[in-house]
Amino acid sequence: MQDKTHLVDEITGHRRMRRNRKADWTRRLVQENRLTVDDLIWPIFLIPGKGIVEPIPAMPGVNRMTVDKAVEAAKEAADLGIPALATFPNIEMELRDETGSNSLEKNNLINLATAAIKKAVPNIGVITDVALDPFTSHGHDGILRGNEIVNDETVEQVARAAVYQADAGADIIAPSEMMDGRIGAIRRALDAAGHQGVGIMSYATKFSSSFYGPYREAISTGGLLKGDKKTYYIDPANGTEAVRDAALDVEEGADMLMVKPGLPYIDICWRLKEAFGLPTFAYQVSGEYSMIKAGAANGWIDGERVMLETLLAFKRAGCDGILTYFAVEVAKLLAKR
Ligand code: PBG
Repeated sequence: MQDKTHLVDEITGHRRMRRNRKADWTRRLVQENRLTVDDLIWPIFLIPGKGIVEPIPAMPGVNRMTVDKAVEAAKEAADLGIPALATFPNIEMELRDETGSNSLEKNNLINLATAAIKKAVPNIGVITDVALDPFTSHGHDGILRGNEIVNDETVEQVARAAVYQADAGADIIAPSEMMDGRIGAIRRALDAAGHQGVGIMSYATKFSSSFYGPYREAISTGGLLKGDKKTYYIDPANGTEAVRDAALDVEEGADMLMVKPGLPYIDICWRLKEAFGLPTFAYQVSGEYSMIKAGAANGWIDGERVMLETLLAFKRAGCDGILTYFAVEVAKLLAKR
């Protein structure tokens, strides 16, 4: 009988993958992807008032902040080297209505925050969403007429809201409401208002997902939402449809694309990057964040390592960056290395 070593050698021949894995230095040398602070976009939640930082129970470690506190947070993020923030307002219930009219208030919460942040911390990018869900009394991203989220009327409104957001200083408009034709409409509206330099990051492929739960608590839309968002978000079963949807956004003038949620749809990140070559981002959404935090709190997973592994996975999948509630935590960790 031949010895075992010989048998293995016959199979592997000269091919031994483990040579490059043998030491820390070889592993560092052959490492294909790296997560850096430049890859991070930090989503933050805004509340009206002054001097308040309020925890969100479903998202341990994440707070809602008044504008003054958001400015402090922006400074901290900029000092850590985080390139950009994405802002989401939790406005008063009295201000929410059927059409989300507060989205068209020049000095609404999101615009006040943008102006204050850009004034105090000009070097951090501010990315604003124009979906109507923070402003509607029904929690939908668009205008509800009867039982329908009406497309074209919503697009008109989000395009106008985008102009106000740009007037306030937003650097990138990120429409997440998934209406048809919105990217082209926003581009035309921005250009007509002289905002040629303001970019559009399309939430090109936003899936009708169950991972958004904690976010809906954060901006208090969970209790409001009637029905679901299946008539405008993409079916989680459909990858090719997602690529087609993104293709329209590219045609209409999107500067960057986003996939949302992140990890469950990581194949879409790869497909979009391969298909269009645009800067592509993943949104590691609230449910993804909270699952990791919950697992870690129970001692079931190593939260820090899982956080880093998920973020690196996005890089491997072709993403240029990640919107993540971990941004500050991970930036601090990367700074220590
Ligand atoms: C809606 C919107 C959602 C998120 C951001 N904007 C989804 C939704 O509530 O349907 C989710 C973000 C997250 O879960 O972290 N325009």
